[in-house]
Amino acid sequence: MSKTATTIDSKDNNVSEQTGDIIYRAATAADGGVMWRFVAEAGVLEQNPSYAYILMCQHFGDTCLVAERDGEMVGFVLAYIPPRQEDTIFVWQVGVSKKVRGKGVGMRLLRHLMALPACRNVRYLEASVTPSNKPSQNLFRGFAKRSGTQCRKMPFFPSEFFPEPHESEHLYRVGPIEWPEA
Ligand SMILES: CC(C)(COP(=O)(O)OP(=O)(O)OC[C@H]1O[C@@H](n2cnc3c(N)ncnc32)[C@H](O)[C@@H]1OP(=O)(O)O)[C@@H](O)C(=O)NCCC(=O)NCCS
Repeated sequence: MSKTATTIDSKDNNVSEQTGDIIYRAATAADGGVMWRFVAEAGVLEQNPSYAYILMCQHFGDTCLVAERDGEMVGFVLAYIPPRQEDTIFVWQVGVSKKVRGKGVGMRLLRHLMALPACRNVRYLEASVTPSNKPSQNLFRGFAKRSGTQCRKMPFFPSEFFPEPHESEHLYRVGPIEWPEA
């Protein structure tokens, strides 16, 4: 089993965790451009403008994480608490580099996300997933299973909402989840 070490700087809410040779740390605006390149290389993820990644990290850095190995980004999760759903963290994008996929990095990103101080009042994790994205569906279902809770799937954005050809998006809602004990 891999060893985990946690450092929490309560002054600025900055959390960094290490599992094996991978460090999980809070994202900053300076990471946005690297995420944008990462998404292009990951292949499956929808690439948004670089500005969107930089802005997400700037405004929601308390709920966005980077996974790094030897200083290189090997994964990230961009998430935020929707203003009208204070008990929910919405995962906008999660990506893991091809080099380390299938080794539990995606799962750890979600677990570390839920354990962040900013997620103290969060009980549900949501994400929007297309019908063809099986790895992502398995990630959220697996996260629910490991958290001892349910994963409900419901309609979210139908394909007609999109001006360009686009699959429908389903909402995966995981919870209720208990905040991990300190
Ligand atoms: C989805 C993704 C983030 C998962 O990250 P990961 O580190 O490879 O996942 P993990 O090793 O933590 O595995 C998590 C679960 O997903 C399943 N999974 C991972 N890759 C899979 C694949 N290619 N096919 C089917 N299931 C897969 C694992 O079996 C595991 O399920 P389990 O807990 O029931 O065993 C990663 O595959 C990825 O970046 N894909 C491309 C981008 C993407 O689709 N992002 C999500 C949309 S926002």
